[in-house]
Amino acid sequence: MIDLEHLLTTSLDDDFDESALPLRQLMTYYRCALKEIETKFRVLDEQFSMYYDRNPIENIETRIKRTSSIYRKLKGRGLPLTFESMETNNFDIAGIRIVSSFLDDIYMLEELLLKQDDVRLIERKDYIAKPKPNGYRSLHLIVEIPIFLANEKKWVKVEVQIRTIAMDLWASLEHKLRYKKELSQERLDEISQDLYECAEICAHLDEKMGRLKRSEKKNPIIKQQR
Ligand code: GTP
Ligand code: MG
Repeated sequence: MIDLEHLLTTSLDDDFDESALPLRQLMTYYRCALKEIETKFRVLDEQFSMYYDRNPIENIETRIKRTSSIYRKLKGRGLPLTFESMETNNFDIAGIRIVSSFLDDIYMLEELLLKQDDVRLIERKDYIAKPKPNGYRSLHLIVEIPIFLANEKKWVKVEVQIRTIAMDLWASLEHKLRYKKELSQERLDEISQDLYECAEICAHLDEKMGRLKRSEKKNPIIKQQR
């Protein structure tokens, strides 16, 4: 019987533990899915660069959730500590963050990703149309993509976050200010209004930059490609 609690709280980098094999295998699936989805975005960026002489993607980051965080999340929600529960209750074990140049690029990239016939949309949260109360903006998608193994095809879930440079700037600094330091509730309340205002400034910046882009004479739009 596999002691999942033990495995999830132990670093997978520790000396090879045979009982950790299924967990290593599962994490490998997530790593492979990240490679697949990263390639999808890189291909779209390349193609855009070829046709329109510009890159809609500024930066791509991927990450695998640490096993200790997966454990904490399951435990915190009172969910079973099983492999099945890990897969069905965690949609964000594999995460990819795409930083786009302009606001319109976010929805264009979403459309181009979702129309691929090996991508299934599981969940969509548009925190741009409806920002979080603290001002956070980004488009979040949970998608499922297949990875092809020696003897099977496995569908793996990936969390995709797509945001502009301005949204990313805000989220990175907000995260640093809010989480990295041991802030008192009083100080948190104090900075939240300022942070909210900074988010509004970033949103204004995106709108203005978008208008500038649209006003360019040679402004190719994706619909011309079809
Ligand atoms: P969890 O995954 O358990 O957090 O819940 P959820 O799936 O409902 O979360 P959601 O889709 O709202 O956001 C998940 C991820 O988005 C986080 O791990 C962060 O990377 C990012 N995120 C969400 N809200 C904020 C925020 O207020 N500030 C920053 N900096 N990042 C955020
Ligand atoms: Mg999540």
